Amino acid sequence: MSTLADQPAHRRELFEARLERWRPDLGAALAPLFDDHEAVLDRLVDIAARAFVARPEELHALDLKRSLAPDWFQREQMVGYAAYADRFGETLAGVAERVPYLADLGVTYLHLMPLLTPRQPPNDGGYAVQDYDSVRPDLGTMDDLRHLTEVLREHDISLCLDLVLNHVAREHAWAERARQGDPRHRAYFHVYDDRSIPDEYERTLPEVFPDFAPGNFTWDDELDGWVWTTFNDYQWDVDWSNPDVLCEYAEIILDLANHGVEVLRLDAIAFIWKRMGTSCQNQPEVHALTQALRTVTRIAAPATLFKAEAIVGPQDLLAYLGQGEHHGKVSDLAYHNSLMVQIWSMLASRDAGLAAYSLQQLATPPSTTAWITYARCHDDIGWAIDDDSAAAVGVSGYAHRRFLSDFYAGEFPGSWARGLVFQENLLTHDRRISGSLASLAGLEAGDPFAVRRIHLAHALVMGFGGLPVIWMGDELGLLNDPDWQSVPEHAEDNRWAHRPAMPWPPPDDVHGVRASTRALVRARKRLPHLHASVAAEVMDPQDPGVLLVVRRHPLGPMLSAYNVTDTDRVLPYQALREVGLDPGQVVDRITGERPDGYTEAFHLPPYAVLWLTAGSDQVS
Ligand code: GLC
Repeated sequence: MSTLADQPAHRRELFEARLERWRPDLGAALAPLFDDHEAVLDRLVDIAARAFVARPEELHALDLKRSLAPDWFQREQMVGYAAYADRFGETLAGVAERVPYLADLGVTYLHLMPLLTPRQPPNDGGYAVQDYDSVRPDLGTMDDLRHLTEVLREHDISLCLDLVLNHVAREHAWAERARQGDPRHRAYFHVYDDRSIPDEYERTLPEVFPDFAPGNFTWDDELDGWVWTTFNDYQWDVDWSNPDVLCEYAEIILDLANHGVEVLRLDAIAFIWKRMGTSCQNQPEVHALTQALRTVTRIAAPATLFKAEAIVGPQDLLAYLGQGEHHGKVSDLAYHNSLMVQIWSMLASRDAGLAAYSLQQLATPPSTTAWITYARCHDDIGWAIDDDSAAAVGVSGYAHRRFLSDFYAGEFPGSWARGLVFQENLLTHDRRISGSLASLAGLEAGDPFAVRRIHLAHALVMGFGGLPVIWMGDELGLLNDPDWQSVPEHAEDNRWAHRPAMPWPPPDDVHGVRASTRALVRARKRLPHLHASVAAEVMDPQDPGVLLVVRRHPLGPMLSAYNVTDTDRVLPYQALREVGLDPGQVVDRITGERPDGYTEAFHLPPYAVLWLTAGSDQVS
């Protein structure tokens, strides 16, 4: 291959070996997508070869290191953190200076929110990218990005960045050329001359932002047509059935990987393939396209991982980690949206029955992948409670979703939550919720159990199994930002309420939230049982107020118990015996001590958490 001609022999051999390994997967992914799939394959291999040649020496070394430990991201040592660069450190150089804070917290994975150049505000928090090749000027440069990844790597922290691939800003060069009448770039988008096709699609399309961006198409005068805009009118969906689009994104991914970015968050990945008569989400082609991109990445920069941002119903979720023909070939990581929703559902209802049943319905993820477990992120919470699961435990899905919205909006009698209603949909009565972890858990309302709820939520995230991600400031118990509306372009989008800036230096830990988070991180890192290759099994609750999760690791079982109520409960010894633990020999791995108890049961005070394994000596 001529691109590799100047490379030393060992590099050429390495590339050829990878190509031989991955070409079949690439071919299989492309065949159902494109008529001229062989030509597309050649183009992609050439893109991979050029990126391979350009890859810095230390990243080739990282490729080797990761391929010697392909489970690196599944390990119990992994702890994630997500933040806006400007709200955390003002600039990328500022973030680099604050890396010791992250390292001290035990963080090994940092997701920085969109930082490539977006259009001028409004830009959906950076999710309307104008230029993938440069960093937002007020944050720094591509060199600063590269430097930041180096500083992070010195502290064993991997950087994750968003790859916004469902849409670009109306001001992106592709859209600009399309607006100028260039047919090649017009074909990068879904453009229609009149409403006939859009209207047909609209019949089955949901609305993502019914409040501030109703409908899924936007008329553009310059384009002289209707362009597909699933999100805001300035975010133009790209047409992934066009192989040029696939090649463009392959180049973008590899360029970011060559700057030292180790994980790419595939933003809104569920939406990238459109099919008439459907919701245009979760189409099979989405997974074929992911496989194609991942294979190209494996050839040129195999240290790079993919994380699927698919906030979809439980029945569609597993496919993003690879099912059927795509098993082990798509994303390595995916958000466990169901767990996140069930954490809040359990806390509001003080009942673990629905969570246990719903989580039991979810198929086991491939053993080479990991969930991203989280209690909060930068987005709102949508009440993804499945009607069938709710019915199976005798609950109305619709009524429960209403209850959760009312509860977390602070409108339900006795609610301790202080959230805000986001995007009420008057047709479906869907009411999503914004709010910080601490405000939703009762700290803002001064509820005496708030800190325990935060501890419980973080314990579920740290101890379920997967890569836990702490949202910036949740380790300090930051409340909703009361001034979120003061930035004019944020005023309509109350998700900014739960994106407060980090106070430096961090305030005194008056409530003990920071100490509790650190204790959980410390305990997690000493528990090989939490390696993500071992599945979490949710047990039938023995007490409806206590969620039981067992992890059957070759070292022995780990049983976790979470009292989701504000009353005293017990964990009967029988539950331990059922999973093969001797009640006389267990230790709680968070405190390092044997839990208090009675005859034949351990005591679970309100919101108590136990992570039980056999005596500590065999696993420390
Ligand atoms: C993802 C992001 C969200 C954004 C949307 C459109 O869902 O998490 O913040 O609004 O994509 O890019």
